[in-house]
Amino acid sequence: RTIYLKDYRKPDFLIDATDLNFQLYEDGARVTSQLHIRRNPDADAFRDVLELDGVELQLERLLLDGRTLNPDEYQLDDETLRLERLPKQFVLTVVTWIKPQENTCLEGLYRSSSMFCTQCEAEGFRRITYYLDRPDVMSSFTTTIEAEKSRYPVLLSNGNPVASGESGDRHWVKWEDPFKKPCYLFALVAGDLEWVEDSFTTMSGREVQLRIYVEPQDLNKCSHAMDSLKRSMTWDEEVYGREYDLDIFNIVAVSDFNMGAMENKGLNIFNSSCVLANPETSTDSAFQRIEAIVAHEYFHNWSGNRVTCRDWFQLSLKEGFTVFRDAEFSADMHSRAVKRIEDVALLRTMQFAEDAGPMSHPVRPDSYMEISNFYTLTVYEKGSEVVRMLHTLLEPEKFREGSDLYFSRFDGQAVTTDDFVACMEEVSGQDFTQFKRWYSQSGTPVLTVTDHYDAETSEYRLDVKQSCPPTPGQQEKQPFQIPLAVGLLDGSGKDMPLTLKAGQGDASGADGDLTRNILVRESEQSFVFTGVTEKPTPSLLRSFSAPVRLNYPYDRNQLTFLMSFDSDGFNRWDAGQKLAVSVFNELINAELKGEQVDIDERYIDAMRQVLLDDKGDHAMLAKMVQVPGVSLLAEQAEVVHVDAILNARQRVHERIGASLSELLLSKYRQLHAQSGNALDSVSMGLRAYKNACLMLLAQGGAQESVALAKLQMQQAQTMTDEFGALAALVNGPDIEAAQSALADFLCKWKKDQLVMEQWFSVQAASERHGALDSIQALTAHELFSERNPNKVRSVIGTFGGQNWRHFHAADGSGYRFLREWIIKMDGLNPQIASRLLTPLTRWRKLEPQRSALMQKELQEIMAHPGLSRDAYEVVSKSLK
Ligand code: ARG
Ligand code: ZN
Repeated sequence: RTIYLKDYRKPDFLIDATDLNFQLYEDGARVTSQLHIRRNPDADAFRDVLELDGVELQLERLLLDGRTLNPDEYQLDDETLRLERLPKQFVLTVVTWIKPQENTCLEGLYRSSSMFCTQCEAEGFRRITYYLDRPDVMSSFTTTIEAEKSRYPVLLSNGNPVASGESGDRHWVKWEDPFKKPCYLFALVAGDLEWVEDSFTTMSGREVQLRIYVEPQDLNKCSHAMDSLKRSMTWDEEVYGREYDLDIFNIVAVSDFNMGAMENKGLNIFNSSCVLANPETSTDSAFQRIEAIVAHEYFHNWSGNRVTCRDWFQLSLKEGFTVFRDAEFSADMHSRAVKRIEDVALLRTMQFAEDAGPMSHPVRPDSYMEISNFYTLTVYEKGSEVVRMLHTLLEPEKFREGSDLYFSRFDGQAVTTDDFVACMEEVSGQDFTQFKRWYSQSGTPVLTVTDHYDAETSEYRLDVKQSCPPTPGQQEKQPFQIPLAVGLLDGSGKDMPLTLKAGQGDASGADGDLTRNILVRESEQSFVFTGVTEKPTPSLLRSFSAPVRLNYPYDRNQLTFLMSFDSDGFNRWDAGQKLAVSVFNELINAELKGEQVDIDERYIDAMRQVLLDDKGDHAMLAKMVQVPGVSLLAEQAEVVHVDAILNARQRVHERIGASLSELLLSKYRQLHAQSGNALDSVSMGLRAYKNACLMLLAQGGAQESVALAKLQMQQAQTMTDEFGALAALVNGPDIEAAQSALADFLCKWKKDQLVMEQWFSVQAASERHGALDSIQALTAHELFSERNPNKVRSVIGTFGGQNWRHFHAADGSGYRFLREWIIKMDGLNPQIASRLLTPLTRWRKLEPQRSALMQKELQEIMAHPGLSRDAYEVVSKSLK
């Protein structure tokens, strides 16, 4: 069954208050819920039928205003409890019995290690009790939790604790959340947890108690998240004027979690991998990811909780906006250009692929079968790009006015992306009718740019064409409104002041600015710059000003020029990427024709120039020396020829090894001597660059890399150095050295689940060590568990998503293996199964033999009896 946006109706009933009581036992939980319900005076057309959602619940009792209802007074099926002929206002009491111990889908109330915890977004609350499980029904919650005192000394829910007591070996705590909320923001935790505590004083002087709850062995991994939380709170006050609104803010780390984290009001629940860190066990990237996720969940308190979504089609209202907010936070904390590079690299490889595949959907989807399938890169990352474009079009001050208006106007309400854009229109006076196509049209727009320079008139013209390929359900697209950031470099590499010829379209900024956002609105449009005294090199789409594919016929000399001189850091990196991709394409095309071509010396020279740069920011240089991954090359290909791509990569790596080893070695030694253990951005940059050099040496087959990596591993004082060295060994020329390093690492870290997840994934991704039999051995390892999503992701997910050589083995063995795991996981945890499907959904892009093998596995999955709604939606759309 498909749900459509156009069918949205306001709720017929409202739930003003929700009083919950949980009695937790070892064999189950009794949930007593008192719902204060009344008719919605604003309902579209009132229907006197109350349909409460409920899944896998055992209904024990149902009372209407205190009177027990007989089974003939209501209707019950697998997903709904139906009541008719109700008073205008009433109290419904629902008693259900649920089995958290048997809950393997990790939605609703479930067990992780020895604790009880919840995940209710999007539709998990219906697995706890019968309810109007939709985000536009907002209610005041009180929650009483009762459990055995010795096993569950800590009992947490949303808001503030208001009462507690005990009797015998059991105790209880009552929580009250002063803010109305939809049930997807409900949370409960019970366990034998310890905590780290701190406090934060808000801008108006409110003292907030901050706590991070963890299992006892993780107490030494909380300080980074705590610091990140305080920085986030300060940043949101300074940049958005948003203050925290409760007296306490709690974070809980749980090891079994389907996603990264969840912004439950006052009680954020995190996948332990997204919150726990210390330098001995966590890499610098983990530190940065944790900082970003802590910020993301905290920022949701306003963009998501105080103002929430009317329905799940509006998911990007909170996710796109909050991703934009956390990206800006990270950019302010570290290097802005590097953060942009990382985000765009993800968008271009993964989101562009999604946009071009069978699950392609707009930022605001118009239909779904299973909403869990729409927590996507499109809704999150492209959604964030759409908000970023609004920020560009309004410029910071107006954007802030718009966000202030949005938060004040809609505080306490459940609203739509249109409501958000309307605020931006209102404060800026701009008309965003056309802009809103970014929310409704799917697919990645293509900008094709050509130029013309007229020395006579000193005019420089950009001719811009836009188009957008057809996507499922959307054959024809209307033109988008696209801010295209442009700079023009003179022969010495300096930016020329830009003056746009009158009557030739709009652009942000003023004449004389060095970067202008020209506003592309038509399918074909020209922009003329005047006073251009020499033929410039254009720097286009600076900072990736719009989520589009850009085609401009750069030649390789222009690209190396931009790599050296572009004042836009992002475009300096991007020029290097474009150069590399064009070299790769030349190699791939030649191989397909059975021809031999040499690797263009200009690419190797450009790499050499980067390595010789002594002044640049190290984090940035680390990005500049990275060779484009297979996923990016595959995404950009018309038809994916796996062997040709892998061979080309092999050749490029060997060539870098042959030509640049000396330089890489001396760079490595220099950086190694400087890098140290500190956790500041500068030290992190040094380590990133150093380990990038080591990896290039290893991938180039340099024997020296083995000894260096072994030594680095032995002497490492940070996980960044230890794991960087392990990864270099695993991807390097000496198989025995790699095996023994993997064994040592296992021996040293086997007690640390999060470290072991890294150990699993470095092997699962490896061309050398991740052949199918090794992957099978990993799934049989005693530390592997199919019940733990992180383990499944680190082995099966990594294998399918990153190990191109062995997942795409020509005999189809990798595909078969993935199919078996998808079916196994579908019976346990459909959300995870559905995510594992992603690589198979790309079957149409592969060359015919592999394509047919992948299709066959999808058909097998489709034929599997009892397939979940999650998997069914993805598989059926992929095969259509
Ligand atoms: N709202 C959470 C976040 O982005 C993610 C929740 C995902 N839940 C799900 N069932 N897909 O911070
Ligand atoms: Zn989010």
